[in-house]
Amino acid sequence: MDIKSIKSQFPIFKKKINGNPLVYLDSANSSQKPKAVINRMSHFYENEFSNVGRSVHTLAVTATNRFEETRDIIKDFINAKYREEIVFTKGATESINLIANSYGDKFMNEGDEIILTELEHHSNYVPWHYLRSKKKAVIKFAKVNENLEIKVDEIKRLISNKTKMIALTHISNVTGGISPLKEIIDLANSKKIPVLIDGTQGAPHLKLDMQKIGCDFYVISCHKMYGPNGLGILYGKKKWLDLLPPYQGGGGMIDEVKKNTISFAETPTKFEAGTMQTAEVVAMSEAIKFVKTIGLDRISDHENKVLNYAIEKLKKNNSVKLIGNPENKASVISFTIKGIHPHDIATILDEDGVAIRAGHHCCQILHEKLGVPATARASLGVYNTKEDIDVLDSAIKKCRKVFNI
Ligand SMILES: Cc1ncc(COP(=O)(O)O)c(C=O)c1O
Repeated sequence: MDIKSIKSQFPIFKKKINGNPLVYLDSANSSQKPKAVINRMSHFYENEFSNVGRSVHTLAVTATNRFEETRDIIKDFINAKYREEIVFTKGATESINLIANSYGDKFMNEGDEIILTELEHHSNYVPWHYLRSKKKAVIKFAKVNENLEIKVDEIKRLISNKTKMIALTHISNVTGGISPLKEIIDLANSKKIPVLIDGTQGAPHLKLDMQKIGCDFYVISCHKMYGPNGLGILYGKKKWLDLLPPYQGGGGMIDEVKKNTISFAETPTKFEAGTMQTAEVVAMSEAIKFVKTIGLDRISDHENKVLNYAIEKLKKNNSVKLIGNPENKASVISFTIKGIHPHDIATILDEDGVAIRAGHHCCQILHEKLGVPATARASLGVYNTKEDIDVLDSAIKKCRKVFNI
């Protein structure tokens, strides 16, 4: 793969950070944007802008067409069966809140159980916590093993005849561990338990096929996938989305409104209340084109090479402790250095132009288990190279010098 040419499509890499070339290792937080996505947003605002799904003038019709075309592009990209299975939201967080509320209101009762895992991001715990409070439901956490992996047997152990939902991450945003989705979904399907996959970290790195994966809901965060901020994609099986009530009320999502009765639009419009992100949706089609042109198989392959190089290199870097050792892993490495707070690591690395994230990565349950309040995290995108890892490694060594470790 010609990474130099791929990288040249991202204007941000022309910038120097503290006098150094940018080594961006924070894509699990948010990826950088290719020029085509940025251009598509300004082109839309300059030439095609109007609100969607409302007026009948030329601009409104054009904008609506572009918006709906993106739904088709996404449907094909993730191999959903129907275009109606694609709902636009504000992000993965809103998508999970939508399902927790909508599904929870309709299908959950006191004492019903939700299975999560100890790896979950707060976005895939807090919405279920609200539901737990509202419905007196029970949340069970599947425990990670010593490698910080989730295994199907642990899910099996927790399933009971009260289990009404299994919600878990595709790829952990702390360990990079890839969950055994097929085994877990086969098990859940055999017991008719719906499964929600938090695909926030999965979608940018792994080829998706909703019909093969077989989950009931899959959430995607566009800003982590080379797309615009403030946009999420919720995939839901049509049979569910047709059954679920709307999550938010407002313009655009209704069929008919009277003083005493309201009827709602069909799926997916009933879940898209108010003025939607328009330029963002339209520009997301360019992000998908970018990913498809390279090919997700090639992206995964390239990122895995860089990841394995990073693991080997950091293992040799004395005093760096890698967090977790999952057998199947993608794109994320978290680590600690004894005696240096992760925020100090991130600050010192930044002096050399190296952008990583430090903190609990919105995974306090996992960090509590690890017995540390925070870790440092380097995460990859298609633009990263082994040279980036060399710079990271040297910057970490410098860090140790600064702290005399
Ligand atoms: C695993 C995981 N789930 C959910 C989210 C939240 O995504 P969004 O920013 O789209 O709400 C993140 C963001 O960091 C994440 O890493």
